[in-house]
Amino acid sequence: MNILVTGGAGFIGSNFVRYMLDTYPDYQIINYDLLTYAGNLENLKEYENRKNYSFIKGDIRNKELLQYVVKKHRVNAIINFAAESHVDRSISDPGIFVKTNVLGTQVLLDVAKENNIVKYVQISTDEVYGSLGEDGFFIETTPLSPNSPYSASKASSDLFVQAYHETYGMNVNITRCSNNYGPFHFPEKLIPLMITNALEGKSLPVYGDGKNVRDWLHVSDHCSAIDLVLHNGAPGEVYNIGGHNEKQNIDVIKEILNILEKPHSLIQFIEDRAGHDRRYAIDATKIRDDLGWKPAYDFEKGLLETVNWYLNNKAWWNRIKSGEYQRYYETQYGIL
Ligand code: NAD
Ligand code: DAU
Repeated sequence: MNILVTGGAGFIGSNFVRYMLDTYPDYQIINYDLLTYAGNLENLKEYENRKNYSFIKGDIRNKELLQYVVKKHRVNAIINFAAESHVDRSISDPGIFVKTNVLGTQVLLDVAKENNIVKYVQISTDEVYGSLGEDGFFIETTPLSPNSPYSASKASSDLFVQAYHETYGMNVNITRCSNNYGPFHFPEKLIPLMITNALEGKSLPVYGDGKNVRDWLHVSDHCSAIDLVLHNGAPGEVYNIGGHNEKQNIDVIKEILNILEKPHSLIQFIEDRAGHDRRYAIDATKIRDDLGWKPAYDFEKGLLETVNWYLNNKAWWNRIKSGEYQRYYETQYGIL
């Protein structure tokens, strides 16, 4: 297979590129990424000279470049990770979320259609289903009910993917995964932000009462699920992915502080996120029964490994947390 991985320099995309290069040495992996603030080629440093790996800097809205790349590398599958991915940024600047996530997906779908791509996989999110109350789980047929500009843009791109399947008969899949964590996670997101702030002796900003629930999955379990969908997903199907690891934010934060042996007094409750979804929880029965997927990680083990990864890779996150990130941080949180 010759696979175009878009957004392969981001958190999940770079973990997926590594996973594929390790698992399928005969596949060609073409990483196409615009290198926005979230894209980082350092994530793939040890792989850059592999014969079956290439990187192209490009925008998923650039149809001409995509056509050239797809033809040159005889691409037969596309997996789209490229997106603006942070909810807080979508609240302060929604426009780029529409441009990248909606328009970008539609351009990519056109390129797939015009080049007879045999499989297109859209990496989506559980956030398209909106928020749950205390009970229940998201299943694949739960109505889409996004609440943030980010999730609205992801839901919209999912609808385009489904429309291309219905209208043009394209072989597509959509995966909807819960919150990922693991190595190379950009430190604007909860877990890496809390780990790195604690290591720097800074306050840990908790939105609202800290009791919002997220359903955590180690990024390598997400990668193994996408692998199964790529190879065995039935045309047009949606697959939910999640590991039944529901946690209140405050409990995750306390667990991080305990691992690092840092005081709980670093926790600072701040104003809630606008439109903050209360609870996400995935029912992953379909991917388990139809494709045989099973997560390998237990959350406690995964969190410990992740904290250790940040302890051992200070240079990686120190470089990110200076410069442009600093400006974002001050705008988002004031000076804590
Ligand atoms: P990320 O922000 O870490 O990475 C996004 C990548 O996309 C970056 O490398 C960036 O440079 C690239 N990109 C942005 N705009 C682009 C454009 N116009 N053209 C080409 N590349 C562009 O995101 P992530 O957390 O790795 O998420 C990857 C995908 O998975 C996203 O589609 C996201 O919606 C989805 N997802 C994320 C999670 C999660 O917990 N992080 C969970 C479920 C689904
Ligand atoms: O559910 C999947 C989604 O998970 C993905 O689609 C998104 O791309 C990804 O960013 C993530 O979205 P969340 O909004 O759930 O993740 P985030 O890490 O931003 O926040 C997790 C929870 O922690 C959420 O309830 C908000 C809270 N939070 C977050 C930050 C950054 C805080 O309390 N303080 C913070 O500073």
